[in-house]
Amino acid sequence: MNDVTRPLDPLGDGLPVPADAPLRAAVTKGRLLQCSIAMFEAAGADCSALRKPGRRLILPVSLPGGPGFEVVLAKAPDVITYVERGACDLGIVGKDTILERGQSFYEVLDLGFGACRFMLAVREGEDFFGRMHHRTVASKYPLVTRQFFERRGMDVDIIHIEGSVELAPILGLADGIVDLVETGGTLRENGLHPIETVAEISARLIANVAAVKTKRGPVTRFIDLCREAVLCSPS
Ligand code: PRP
Repeated sequence: MNDVTRPLDPLGDGLPVPADAPLRAAVTKGRLLQCSIAMFEAAGADCSALRKPGRRLILPVSLPGGPGFEVVLAKAPDVITYVERGACDLGIVGKDTILERGQSFYEVLDLGFGACRFMLAVREGEDFFGRMHHRTVASKYPLVTRQFFERRGMDVDIIHIEGSVELAPILGLADGIVDLVETGGTLRENGLHPIETVAEISARLIANVAAVKTKRGPVTRFIDLCREAVLCSPS
């Protein structure tokens, strides 16, 4: 289990959130949503609406003995936008998106689930660091990639690819890729192998800067609920 005691760390200004509005948490659709539902239920929440959303995008979650909250279903970069701008008080999003998209919010908790890695990967037999000519790297995460090579003092051309990044070295577009690796299966089945870890990734709970002040009670309760559920879950 990852460290879940990260303190609040102010990094920017969010817009004011009305104190009487219901607590809203934006959650990244897909695997992180399923893990989030399991976390909420471990904390005693009723997620029946969230388990059968149909086409609805805002779903109520009730908690025993207290006010519940609303879950907003969104794509990962939009979770950050909604939280940064105060449309949502809290958000659950991968560290990969946080690293690429900036941080005008509080990152309050490492939720542990959604664990994977950003890795630099190349074709089998490729001597990436040993080669003499200029290197080209493809990634869906150009900022993360640029910062990684800047830290190493390497001048690398970066090509922004939207998905299936593994294609780039296979088709001769790039010498390597920086991409998320979970099981390693996609790399293996496409003749690529990882040569260096760029960053460890997992889901994070984020909070709007203003909501932490104006909705301190409900926001703190939500954070505590998630922290306790994460601490109780098997690692
Ligand atoms: C992600 C990632 C890799 C793959 C890694 O792709 O970009 O391609 O999963 O998983 P693995 O190590 O378990 O094989 P995703 O399925 O999200 O699609 P994308 O390539 O279009 O981004």
